[in-house]
Amino acid sequence: MAELPNLEFVHPLKLFDIAKKEKRLLYTSAPMVRYSKLAFRQTVFEYGTDLCWTPMILAKEFNRNRFARDSDFTISTAGPQAPTIVQFGANVPQELARASSLVAPFCSGVDLNCGCPQSWACAETLGAALMERRELVRDMVVETREQLRRDGWGVGLEADIDNPKGRSVSVKIRVHKDLRKTIDFITTVLGPDANTRNIDFLTIHPRTRSTPSSTPINLDALELLTSTFGTRVPILLSGDVFALHALPFPTTHSAPTFTTTNTKEKSTPLPLTLPHLSGLMSARALLRNPALYAGASSCPWSAVDTFLSRAARAPLPLKLVLHHLSEMCGPALGPDGSGGGGGGEGATVDKSALLSKKERAAMMACGNMIDLVDFLDERRREAGEHGWQQPDPG
Ligand SMILES: Cc1cc2nc3c(=O)[nH]c(=O)nc-3n(C[C@H](O)[C@H](O)[C@H](O)COP(=O)(O)O)c2cc1C
Repeated sequence: MAELPNLEFVHPLKLFDIAKKEKRLLYTSAPMVRYSKLAFRQTVFEYGTDLCWTPMILAKEFNRNRFARDSDFTISTAGPQAPTIVQFGANVPQELARASSLVAPFCSGVDLNCGCPQSWACAETLGAALMERRELVRDMVVETREQLRRDGWGVGLEADIDNPKGRSVSVKIRVHKDLRKTIDFITTVLGPDANTRNIDFLTIHPRTRSTPSSTPINLDALELLTSTFGTRVPILLSGDVFALHALPFPTTHSAPTFTTTNTKEKSTPLPLTLPHLSGLMSARALLRNPALYAGASSCPWSAVDTFLSRAARAPLPLKLVLHHLSEMCGPALGPDGSGGGGGGEGATVDKSALLSKKERAAMMACGNMIDLVDFLDERRREAGEHGWQQPDPG
């Protein structure tokens, strides 16, 4: 990382600002262990995502081990530079501060994971276990801001949005069963001074640590938290963002129409019920359809091309490429009218898939990239589509 040239990164609050001026929500892609690596982030960025998260990186390992650094965090020095937030798992202020200091030259901001429900993480007081340690979370973000300031980065919130050295510090949380605890948590982390705050923005996944992801998000919790805090700190919703026309809350619709030439176009329904929500974060649905924010109702072949092209330049293990493709070539995630899957006002998503279940199983048997590209070309020819084409790298 040390050999990289000076890279300039847009401040995340600037992106919130631009989206607000465009009267739309900010579009972000979620941290996903294993999946949200460079090639995927570049793909979703090319299809309308404004801001991308890395997978959670364990700060302690990252600080101590050069190999952990090399394998956990890759950025691009050529091609599209998706604005990136590096997410850490940490439970010691100095560890988060040091890891943040190491990545600050190569990203737009850093984020603390307070939502991972996995038992190994909670046993180590990482992830969702931090929802019971609000003072520690506050201390971690305060220490991180101070370290970044000492390093010469702009951590002055809105005052630094046009500063090329401006960086953000944020947290991603779940909610408690008793929402008063979540209010106390956020109040503590933001800090006592109403004129400033310890985090640039906040991501809320409105499920508790024990709520399965098949249970719809707690909309009442989201309404309460955005109305309480949304004027003081920009808030992103993570959870059940399946499609722009099937958000998990009622909206006024201006659903975009996707064509292969408008990948950079963004359009959004304005939320009626959540006036203080600033943005959306999608995980599972974006895995299935990286063109979700461009308004594509299901994954287009062009997104498969983009992903393959990016994966060739920022290599991923074949097994991971196959996993991504089996997600992208299957049906989109979201409500299909059969009753499950959330979604506002009965909206449904297009469940047509690029490959049948049988074809996806056959794809998984491909033993190398050449066989994989040949296999996909063959399926596309059968479907009357053009074969693989190198997308415009610009
Ligand atoms: C495969 C996978 C990996 C995830 N890894 C992380 C992670 O590293 N950090 C994190 O904060 N959340 C992680 N999450 C949670 C998501 O970021 C998101 O909050 C959750 O899946 C709800 O959003 P969705 O309904 O759009 O999937 C992960 C989710 C999935 C499906």
